[in-house]
Amino acid sequence: MAVSWYAVAFLAASALGASIAPSNYVLEKSACGRVWVTVYSPAIRLTGGKNLLDAIELNWDFSTCSDTPMQIGLFNDRPMSWKNALATFPLNSAVGFVITNISLGEGSLPAGWESSPGVKGPHCLWPWVGAGNSFIQSFNCLKIQPTWMEDNADKINKLRIGELAIPGTHNAGAWKFDTEISTVERDSFVLCQDRSIWAQLVHGIRYFDFRIAYYDFYEREEDRYWLNHNLIRVRPLLPLLKEIKAFLDSTKEVIFLDAHHFPVGFYHQNGAPIQQVHRGLLNIVQRELGPHIAPASQFATGPGTRGPTLQAFVDAGRRLLFSYVDNSIVAGNRWLWPILPHLWANTNRPSELFHFLDNMIDRSPLPSARSPLFSAMAQTTPTVLDILLVRGSLRENADAVNRNVTARLKTRWRNNANIVSTDFFLGNDVTDVSIALSVERSSRL
Ligand SMILES: *[C@@H]1O[C@H](CO)[C@@H](O)[C@H](O)[C@H]1NC(C)=O
Ligand SMILES: *[C@@H]1O[C@H](CO)[C@@H](O)[C@H](O)[C@H]1NC(C)=O
Repeated sequence: MAVSWYAVAFLAASALGASIAPSNYVLEKSACGRVWVTVYSPAIRLTGGKNLLDAIELNWDFSTCSDTPMQIGLFNDRPMSWKNALATFPLNSAVGFVITNISLGEGSLPAGWESSPGVKGPHCLWPWVGAGNSFIQSFNCLKIQPTWMEDNADKINKLRIGELAIPGTHNAGAWKFDTEISTVERDSFVLCQDRSIWAQLVHGIRYFDFRIAYYDFYEREEDRYWLNHNLIRVRPLLPLLKEIKAFLDSTKEVIFLDAHHFPVGFYHQNGAPIQQVHRGLLNIVQRELGPHIAPASQFATGPGTRGPTLQAFVDAGRRLLFSYVDNSIVAGNRWLWPILPHLWANTNRPSELFHFLDNMIDRSPLPSARSPLFSAMAQTTPTVLDILLVRGSLRENADAVNRNVTARLKTRWRNNANIVSTDFFLGNDVTDVSIALSVERSSRL
C-alpha cells in the first residue's frame, strides 16, 4: 500500500496517540490503528537453563481498520525498511502481541536523562516497532515522557486534576532492595517495580503510591523512615525524596505523592497514631520538598469537586501534592491532601479485578469524596496461600493484567479513569495512553 508520509501524518491526526509528540520529530505514526512496544515482565526460561529477562514485546491494535497489515517487526531505529528489522512476525489477528526473544537490556534513559535532567520532550529508548505490508505504515518506539505535562500544557493545563488521566505506580518504592543485607533486584512477592523513582518520573509516571515504615533502631531520625512492602523493608525513604526534588527543580511537571499505608511503627497497639513518628515524617517531607509543596489549605476545592486546574499549580510554582491516608493527621496539618480513594479489588483473579474496576471507575469520584483524585489499583493481590506455596509471582500477575489495563483505559475507562496505578509499568502502555486521553479530554472543554 503506497501512502505518502504526508497522507499518513494527516490521517494519524485523529488517531489515539497522534497528539503525543509535541515537536515535528514524530516518534509515533499510524495510518490507522496503532502499534506499541512494551517489556515482558516475567523471565523466560531458555533451553540450557539461562533466563531471558526483559524481553521486548510488540503490540498492535488494528481493530478499527478495514485491513490488518501483514507483518510486524522489531527495529533498533526508526523503521524505514523491512530489511533493517531485527525480527519480523506475521500478523494473523487484528489485535494482539508477540513476545520477541530479544532483551531490552539496560534500558538506559536517552537524551541525557539517565541521572539528571536532559532534553525536553518524548524520546525513544532503542526498541522500535513497525507494521505494514511492503511499506511500513505504522511505527512507534518505547519512550520516555519526562516533560509530557509541559509538552502538552497549552491543552491539558485547563483540566482539573480530577479530570486528568494520570499514570501511576503501585508500591512505587518497592524496586530493588537497598538494605544492609540485600540488593536483590528480582524476587517473587515483594518487588512491584524495577525502575528507580527517578526513572519512573522520566518514563512519565506522575503518581506514586508509597508504603512508609518507621524503625527506631537507627540513630538519626531521617534514617528511620523506609519504604516497605507490607512488613518487608525495601529501601530508605530519604534518597527517593531527593530524586523527586531534583525532578521538580528541573521541570514544570506536577507530581502526586501518596502516603498510602504505614505498615510498621506509625501506630500504637490500640490503633492511635504515634504523633511524633508522623510529625517526623512530615518534617522530612517539608524539609526536602517544602518549596514545591502545594498545600491543600491553599488549593483544595471542596468535597465532590475535581480540584484545581493543572494551570493553578504551574502558575503558583507549587507542583507537589502530598496525600495522606490518615485523616486525623490531615486535620492537624492542613497542607496535606486528604485520603485519596484507592479502588482496590483485593482479588487474585483478573476477571474479578476488571469487573470491580469497571464498576468503581464509573462511580468515582463519590459525591462526598474529599480528594479530587482517585486511583484505580490495576493489579491483582496474591493470597497468603499464593505466597506460602510460591504460586506465581508479582511479575506473572502483572503480566496477566497489564495488556488488558492498556486496552481498558482506551475503551471502558476512557472518559472517567483518573489515576491508574500498575505494577511493572513497562508491561503496559498506560503512560502514552493517559497522555493521549488527557489531551482528548481537554479538547472537549
Ligand atoms: C530467537 O528467535 C528466532 C526466531 O524468531 C530464532 O531464529 C533465534 O534462534 C532465537 N534466538 C534465541 C537466542 O533463542
Ligand atoms: C484480557 O484481554 C484478552 C484479549 O482481549 C481477553 O481475551 C481476556 O478475556 C481479557 N481478560 C480479562 C480478565 O478481561
